[in-house]
Amino acid sequence: MPLVIAMDGPSGSGKSSASKGVARALGLRYLDTGAMYRAMTWWMLRAGVPVDDAAAVAARVAEPVIESGTDPDGPTITVDGTDVAEPIRTREVTNAVSAVSSVPAVRERLVALQREIIGTGGIVVEGRDIGTVVAPDAPVKVYLTASEEVRAARRAKDLTADPAASVTVTQAEQARRDRLDSTRTASPLAKAGDAAEIDSTGLSLVEVIEAVVHLAKERD
Ligand code: DC
Repeated sequence: MPLVIAMDGPSGSGKSSASKGVARALGLRYLDTGAMYRAMTWWMLRAGVPVDDAAAVAARVAEPVIESGTDPDGPTITVDGTDVAEPIRTREVTNAVSAVSSVPAVRERLVALQREIIGTGGIVVEGRDIGTVVAPDAPVKVYLTASEEVRAARRAKDLTADPAASVTVTQAEQARRDRLDSTRTASPLAKAGDAAEIDSTGLSLVEVIEAVVHLAKERD
């Protein structure tokens, strides 16, 4: 089976940078599944759908056309042809995404899209349920973690344009999102039994990338 590397873990664990770095190092494509859940959430908010109403969300789930570009040097995400790379990172979307991504109909549609993109492989896929649900046969599975403090600090750095995004606020919002993502009924964030756990708290980005590349070469 051509290589599929599943990279799961909570927010701020360093998944995106590590996944892109691994894809570059190994000449693979890269898919950010979180961006797809964010794109769906952005569309729901713009369409005026009450995101806490699961039935209302489910009723509209087939409407947006979500497309992901998989070049690790310039991944793209569009909704109905509009580039949404920036608006999907706002706090408004970030704070609504757990509700939308807990709706089974949303997951069904996006998991199907993700499997289409994964196709015959040659890709690094990051998310929450890649090793458990989306690609349970992936030959390489990583569960990336980091201490809560390090994760909050990384997130706050991503949001420096937002004055309300202090480390304390980010930490509280993130803890809430992780709790929702881990306790939802539909494919919660969980470590696959056969995933290698990497704690990135004391590691540099290069060290994390090297560790994953090493795992990939071992399984080859
Ligand atoms: O990785 P991220 O923070 O951009 O992900 C945004 C949200 O999407 C996250 O709070 C949970 C959800 N998500 C998911 O449910 N399943 C995935 N495979 C990826 C993300």
